[in-house]
Amino acid sequence: MVTDEHSSPRTHDLDDGPDAARLLADLWRQACPDEPIEAWVLQEKILADPDRDPRLWLTATHGGRLVGAATGVVRTQGPEGPTGFVQFLAVAPGYRRRGVASRLLDELEQRLARRGARRIRAFGGAPSYLWPGVDVRYTGALCLFERRGYRLEGYDFNMEVDLTRPLPVDPPPVRQQALERSGVTVRPLRREDREALEAWLRRTWGPHWAFEGMLAMDRPEPAGFVATRDGDVVGFAVFDSTRPGWFGPMGVEPSLQGGGVGLELCVRAMEEMARRGYAQAQIAWAGPRCFYARKLGATISRVFARLSKPVEEA
Ligand SMILES: CC(C)(COP(=O)(O)OP(=O)(O)OC[C@H]1O[C@@H](n2cnc3c(N)ncnc32)[C@H](O)[C@@H]1OP(=O)(O)O)[C@@H](O)C(=O)NCCC(=O)NCCS
Repeated sequence: MVTDEHSSPRTHDLDDGPDAARLLADLWRQACPDEPIEAWVLQEKILADPDRDPRLWLTATHGGRLVGAATGVVRTQGPEGPTGFVQFLAVAPGYRRRGVASRLLDELEQRLARRGARRIRAFGGAPSYLWPGVDVRYTGALCLFERRGYRLEGYDFNMEVDLTRPLPVDPPPVRQQALERSGVTVRPLRREDREALEAWLRRTWGPHWAFEGMLAMDRPEPAGFVATRDGDVVGFAVFDSTRPGWFGPMGVEPSLQGGGVGLELCVRAMEEMARRGYAQAQIAWAGPRCFYARKLGATISRVFARLSKPVEEA
């Protein structure tokens, strides 16, 4: 790390060493104390990303101290072609409004373009992501990206379910009757479900959910529930995959949707989250918002702006 006590912070590549995740976590704690992110999460989401490219990990240092960082990744799946994602961005409070983030993003956007990205997105980037987009309460980040020419495409949401109170659902025997009609059993995920679940997820929902489902499967205790019929997987719901305390993804075989299987999966998974000590379930990047609101009393907890710009303008 270059020491430069008196001048402005300088940008460098992040040293891909054993301390990298801890350094990023320390920086994030200063930058955003209201949203702590543990080092192991940053390790998993950034440094062990399936498309990881250390040439897209940039830092700003001053006097040997890490004062800013921006990391990115290029993904090639999807109809949009190669897309660059800013995955992480933070500048220490004492170094704000001095152009540190701008310099980091200038360099990162150029590197993303050189690696083939045709569009750059501010966060998102499933299946391995920290936020669906820019949290609209993060004023500095929102203004920064808008100033850089990123256009607002829409919003994505997290929702929250209070786990300190009983969920507002029918008692188990009533729910059980609905399940029996469809011949479905819901039970906790077990390690031996791995192969069947991954194959079903790939076939039914695609590689992103397969990836996220396997992260939950590989937690110290598998973090989720599976629905089966005649021994075949027909539904799943996981948590602790995106972040500790975040719920999802979840899905039910299309032919069985509307029969109470999805609700049972949610209820069982959220009850298990409560048992493991969570006071709330944060439904990540919530899809069927009215389903969660009506069935579980979920409310919108975080709003993320979806921002992107084409690389021609980068
Ligand atoms: C967002 C963040 C990285 C910006 O870092 P920074 O080094 O202060 O940004 P810059 O100095 O390069 O800002 C460039 C321009 O962005 C805009 N901007 C940045 N912060 C702003 C703020 N708080 N309010 C309004 N505009 C802001 C301004 O147009 C600024 O130019 P100006 O200072 O000439 O007016 C920093 O505020 C931060 O770490 N925030 C917490 C972490 C975060 O929100 N990360 C995103 C996760 S979703």
